[in-house]
Amino acid sequence: MSQNIIFTNRPDEAIENTLNTMDYAGIWILADTNTMAMARSLQSTCPSLSDAKTIEIEAGDNHKSLTQLSHVWQQLSEEGASRHSLLINIGGGMVTDLGGFAAATFKRGIRFINIPTTLLGAVDAAVGGKTGINFAGLKNEIGAFAPAHTVVISTNWFSTLPHAELTSGYAEMLKHALIDSQEALGKTLSFNIDTPDLHALLPLLEHSVNVKRRIVTEDPHENGIRKALNLGHTAAHAFEALAMERNRPVAHGHAVAWGLVVDLVLSHMQLQFPADTLRSVAAFVERHYPAPEIKCPDYEHLIDLMRHDKKNIDRNHINFTLLRAPGEIVIDRTATPDDISTALDILRDLLHI
Ligand SMILES: NC(=O)c1ccc[n+]([C@@H]2O[C@H](COP(=O)([O-])OP(=O)(O)OC[C@H]3O[C@@H](n4cnc5c(N)ncnc54)[C@H](O)[C@@H]3O)[C@@H](O)[C@H]2O)c1
Ligand SMILES: [Zn+2]
Repeated sequence: MSQNIIFTNRPDEAIENTLNTMDYAGIWILADTNTMAMARSLQSTCPSLSDAKTIEIEAGDNHKSLTQLSHVWQQLSEEGASRHSLLINIGGGMVTDLGGFAAATFKRGIRFINIPTTLLGAVDAAVGGKTGINFAGLKNEIGAFAPAHTVVISTNWFSTLPHAELTSGYAEMLKHALIDSQEALGKTLSFNIDTPDLHALLPLLEHSVNVKRRIVTEDPHENGIRKALNLGHTAAHAFEALAMERNRPVAHGHAVAWGLVVDLVLSHMQLQFPADTLRSVAAFVERHYPAPEIKCPDYEHLIDLMRHDKKNIDRNHINFTLLRAPGEIVIDRTATPDDISTALDILRDLLHI
């Protein structure tokens, strides 16, 4: 999958240079109500964007919908976009997922550029080629694999991000570090995420995105090693679903942080993942993330939620991606309900809840 990813402190320059190398018939910029201001500021500094048309959609994951997708198609169509037009998505994962899918399908596919403005978007959603929308109450039910022509990543945008959004994206960086190496993990655990130096975050983010890029290039359609990117996610999806049922939704990355600890406990139980590394990751999660609201009586329901994960082969063996050590990935592992209960007990011990 060819995808040009640029890491920069000057996104306006990078975008202008990229556009100068491309031939296109008109540019449309897609942003949500919160990121349109960032789109306008780019338009004022990039001459190639000054005449671009803008499409604004409502912010929030509940708006990653067919209604808004249809609004984007309609505007492109009414304003005369052609197969050679270019769509520029400026926003978090909601905008790059919906915009990428709109571009992948309009006139059987037009090129698009992603400019992620959240850390989660930069480290995960905007790169890797998965696009789509929620449908019939199901997340990412309709979509397509369609890589952006170029992704321009800058940490400058993150100065306005609420801290919880920043730590949410950072959990995916922690995941990438764990599947990469001990060295990457050490750097990620020692970065000051409380009062982050956004300049210093850029090279760490670059390394992290490259971990995802390497894995996605090897296995673009998730038949094998791409499952490494599911580390932490079997438990995370169950934590998110439980929180939704209680009408107390949690940020995706916060659930991933807890899910990573669960997977490292299982990794320790099954594959002798080093206990001291497990303890340092758990201490980091305890310090920077809220505590999960789970107690013993919730285990059965959580395990039931994990059983429904589409990655499972049968209902008594729940699929996990585990590690022997940082960087040593073992995909297609299973755990029994008893193992998972034990892991949840240890999670609560480690996080002191
Ligand atoms: N395609 C993939 O591989 C992939 C991977 C992970 C997540 N996702 C998707 O990404 C979405 C979540 O991404 P997200 O967390 O970026 O959500 P989001 O796009 O909904 O952004 C979160 C909120 O932050 C606002 N925002 C964006 N940039 C901002 C900034 N710089 N300053 C202040 N506020 C800003 C947004 O308007 C929104 O209200 C979900 O839809 C998820 O399914 C996709
Ligand atoms: Zn995730």
